[in-house]
Amino acid sequence: MQELRLLWWVVLLGLAQACPEPCDCGEKYTFQIVDCAYRDLEAMPLGFPANVTTLSLSANRLPGLREGAFREVPLLQSLWLAHNEIRTVAAGSLASLGHLKSLDLSHNLISDFAWSDLHNLSALQLLKMDSNELTSIPRDAFRSLGALRSLQINHNRLHTLAEGTFTPLTALSHLQINDNPFDCTCGIVWFKTWTLATAVSIPEQDNIACTSPHVLKGTPLRRLPPLPCSAPSVQLSYQSNQDGAELRPGFVLALHCDVDGQPAPQLHWHIQIPSGTVEITSPNVDTDGRALPGTPSASSQARFQAFANGSLLIPEFGKLEEGTYSCLATNELGSAESSVNVALATPGEGGENTLGRRFHGKAAEGKGCYTVDNEVQPSGPEDNVVIIYLSRAGNPETAVAGDGVPRQLPPGLLLLGQSLLLFFLTSF
Ligand SMILES: *[C@@H]1O[C@H](CO)[C@@H](O)[C@H](O)[C@H]1NC(C)=O
Ligand SMILES: *[C@@H]1O[C@H](CO)[C@@H](O)[C@H](O)[C@H]1NC(C)=O
Ligand SMILES: *[C@@H]1O[C@H](CO)[C@@H](O)[C@H](O)[C@H]1NC(C)=O
Repeated sequence: MQELRLLWWVVLLGLAQACPEPCDCGEKYTFQIVDCAYRDLEAMPLGFPANVTTLSLSANRLPGLREGAFREVPLLQSLWLAHNEIRTVAAGSLASLGHLKSLDLSHNLISDFAWSDLHNLSALQLLKMDSNELTSIPRDAFRSLGALRSLQINHNRLHTLAEGTFTPLTALSHLQINDNPFDCTCGIVWFKTWTLATAVSIPEQDNIACTSPHVLKGTPLRRLPPLPCSAPSVQLSYQSNQDGAELRPGFVLALHCDVDGQPAPQLHWHIQIPSGTVEITSPNVDTDGRALPGTPSASSQARFQAFANGSLLIPEFGKLEEGTYSCLATNELGSAESSVNVALATPGEGGENTLGRRFHGKAAEGKGCYTVDNEVQPSGPEDNVVIIYLSRAGNPETAVAGDGVPRQLPPGLLLLGQSLLLFFLTSF
């Protein structure tokens, strides 16, 4: 019994002072150092002393870091992992290292990196990730790294950088980011401006260069000529029938989202109708109106044809499609949105009165009803109120304004306050 207890203590002590078999462990000043470099390791050794502060695993053949990989060494301050074969740094592999000051992951094959783990490493001062295969950095990747002094992400595959990526790095004094295949479009212009203005030392600036577009290949970012860049602007308009034919029930409602911006913005429709919300990434049909592959065909989307040219067609427009139509344009410089409300009033349903009630306040304010010849322009947030007037063939077109009094109007549309109202007076 006595012997057994003794043996137990020996085992426990042995564990506490363990050194993984392939490694050397030692102490220097207050540092507990474990050196496992150059050991041909293909897996993480087990049984580190719990108080290890410096761990070198450099120049091995580790293929990745899995979740909880360093859980048993929470006091780690320096972690050297350069020159391995690491492809994946899994979420939760580094997050436990709240005391880490230096992390070297350079010269690996990392393409999949758990950026969110960096949010836990608020003591980090040196981060080396150069010579990997990183293709992007999330905008908020460095948000907790207020102590970081040196960041090395040169020799990766970064093609762009989100504006403000380096803003949280208030202690940064050294940034190495050369030899990445930057795509010199509008999205990178902020970085050029930033490198020219910052006090951070950025070496090898001639090698921070464009890889695309072709005409700029090899141009150092700091010599990038001014690019024509503009944030999106949108104008949502209603297209009336080109040929002036009379509109009847079952007609095709055509909205057009006129988009400006450089580079060409991505279009998105957000439609709020009685049955719910419909989100459409434009285009969802080809130029002939056939659904594009990958578009959910059976869904509510099928009622709406979003063309690449910015037009949205709704065949057989009816009560079910009444609602708010918004088009949203986004490019790397920002986004813009424009909306209209579309309502349908049919004869015999007290449409004129409904119309009168709906717009009474606005008309009384004298917001001004004005007409345009063919299309409703512009439709900014203030002015996108449209009443479309359709009459029996041969009769002059008549608008009912806010006070309910019919007025003579030229053919076309009446633009008013905040809604687009399609008003049917077609004879049945
Ligand atoms: C770490 O733990 C070992 C074993 O318990 C001990 O001998 C050593 O002094 C400790 N080192 C440090 C730096 O605290
Ligand atoms: C990371 O930080 C969060 C928030 O501070 C904390 O809740 C979480 O436990 C940390 N993760 C690890 C693995 O320590
Ligand atoms: C956009 O394309 C559709 C289908 O080809 C067409 O019906 C529509 O008139 C076009 N819109 C404009 C503004 O040219």
